[in-house]
Amino acid sequence: MIGLLGDNGKPLLRAYSIASPSWDDELEFYSIKVQDGPLTSRLQHIKPGDDIILRPKPVGTLVHDALIPGKRLYFFATGTGIAPFASLIRDPETYEEYDEVILAHTCRDVAELEYGRQLVESLADDPLIGEFIDGKLRYYPTTTREQSPVMGRITDRLKSGEMFADLGVPEISPENDRAMVCGSIGLNTDLKEILEGFGLREGANSDPAEYVVEKAFVG
Ligand code: A2P
Repeated sequence: MIGLLGDNGKPLLRAYSIASPSWDDELEFYSIKVQDGPLTSRLQHIKPGDDIILRPKPVGTLVHDALIPGKRLYFFATGTGIAPFASLIRDPETYEEYDEVILAHTCRDVAELEYGRQLVESLADDPLIGEFIDGKLRYYPTTTREQSPVMGRITDRLKSGEMFADLGVPEISPENDRAMVCGSIGLNTDLKEILEGFGLREGANSDPAEYVVEKAFVG
């Protein structure tokens, strides 16, 4: 949870995913800016030295311990749902546990993909994490409302098999593939059905399995 003190003196808090890796001593967040949103209308103007509120107890399901070992790990995100994966693609454990990591990000417009695209590009030569990645990270961006090289909802590209053909990988299987999902409720519901159709089961920290889902919270 992060937030600010409201005009009435009460904290104004929203759930955010931490986008920075767990080893980093800086905390990074990725947010939309809602012009008349109670929190983000103010948060977008904070300056160095301003106070923010951070709730100390992180919660969430997108953790490696909730998945049983596999060969390939998919991260499926829409919009700001990329935030937890911005953290995990910078986590050495991700590359120690999997041979291949595929980050699929669907946004309405090309501009919304920019944060993820720049991050992925920067990692190949990153002095800290680059050697762990070692060519294992693949990026699959799609847009739904503006023209870009790969168009369409990730759910549709999965169902049609186009995503597998584009990436040159076999269809998702419970033997080899694991997935983490973070997006709107609609995306999460649709992807759960698709992943279960491929034979994957939803896992939890106490009962790991083949995929996990987290709701992307908006500011
Ligand atoms: P679309 O443009 O077809 O609605 P939003 O900004 O509404 O959260 O959407 C972010 C991205 O997620 C958009 O590209 C949107 O596609 C896509 N999206 C929304 N709902 C779903 C869903 N149920 N399954 C797959 N993609 C979705």
